[in-house]
Amino acid sequence: MAFSFPARESARVTIELGARSYDIVIGTGLLGDPHTWSGLPVGATALVVTNTTVGPLYAGRLEAALRAHFKAVHTVVLPDGEDHKDWPTLQRIFDALLANGCDRKTIAFALGGGVVGDMAGFAAACYMRGVPFVQVPTTLLAQVDSSVGGKTGINHPLGKNMIGAFHQPLRVVCDLDTLDTLPPRELSAGLAEAIKYGPIADMEFLGWLEGRIDALLGRDREALAYAVRRSCEIKASVVGHDEREAGLRAILNFGHTFGHAIEAGLGFGQWLHGEAVGCGMVMGARLSQRLGLVDEAFVARLASIVARAGLPTSGPALGADRYLELMRVDKKAEAGQTRFVVIDEPGRAAVRTAPDAMVRDVLAACTR
Ligand code: NAD
Ligand code: GLY
Repeated sequence: MAFSFPARESARVTIELGARSYDIVIGTGLLGDPHTWSGLPVGATALVVTNTTVGPLYAGRLEAALRAHFKAVHTVVLPDGEDHKDWPTLQRIFDALLANGCDRKTIAFALGGGVVGDMAGFAAACYMRGVPFVQVPTTLLAQVDSSVGGKTGINHPLGKNMIGAFHQPLRVVCDLDTLDTLPPRELSAGLAEAIKYGPIADMEFLGWLEGRIDALLGRDREALAYAVRRSCEIKASVVGHDEREAGLRAILNFGHTFGHAIEAGLGFGQWLHGEAVGCGMVMGARLSQRLGLVDEAFVARLASIVARAGLPTSGPALGADRYLELMRVDKKAEAGQTRFVVIDEPGRAAVRTAPDAMVRDVLAACTR
């Protein structure tokens, strides 16, 4: 049996959404500590949703801790991968909910990265028109971004995250210990979403990341704890002001319009989501520069930290026509017009349109 250190909570960030407010708990040893799971609404059943990679690593620990609070703890293990973020895999969660007699008080626990989190959350949003769920993110990307804010859903072959629902979790538990087993490529992908918060909201945080990027890649626990905490604070503040993306929340999609086109254009799962976002941010910064909003030095600074995080700074050569076509299938699009998140000035973002010719120019500069 593996030795485990006592649980230590290093930070707690509250996301303020009135009656649906919840805490993001960040620390070590949290997963297997029954105390972590106290205070949730009383229900007889828990359903752990995980995948074939994360399940064998962490489901046993979580199930044992949950048994202190639930009469029955069931687990459904999904196939791993972005290419399984689809209807047939979602159906397996509904199958497990029904086969185990789960009722409206059942709590689903999403144990895994953003793919498991988005799918388990969407299943929870739909099952019996909505059951509660808890996010237990095990990738850096999920801890700094996807587990927070209640966006849930699946992909459609024609577009990323196109089918989904807003459904806030009851709690988010970020156990930093789980990051020890994360492959290096996935760690880099997570850094992309952390870096994102700098240009859109907090240049001081970007400076901190520049100074600590090697420590983060080396999985320094204190550095990871701060990166997760600061990212969650910024995301909590944005979501607290604009839960349903009437306006402000769109800034969290900096780099995503280009990034989603890369993911869909290459086929889901070829590039990691974080890799596509890293490259997409460089494209977004270049577009901001072409629009006269930021200078060349800003683009170079962003490209430099993206590269130092181990992420691509040039996109695949899909062809400008294909990029433009893919980017039109974007949730920010209005009346067929693609809208981009741009950096208005370092630390502040906005949503704007840009002429196709300018976007083509950016793509020519940023793909190979
Ligand atoms: P992922 O869920 O595919 O996880 C990455 C890989 O790491 C997978 O193979 C997974 O099995 C494995 N893994 C997970 N935890 C591990 C661990 N502790 N040790 C070893 N391996 C582990 O990818 P991701 O980067 O976490 O999430 C990307 C997804 O999140 C995308 O689908 C993206 O659209 C979505 N997303 C959603 C939001 C949101 O607001 N809902 C925000 C950003 C991204
Ligand atoms: N990751 C984008 C959002 O949560 O709005």
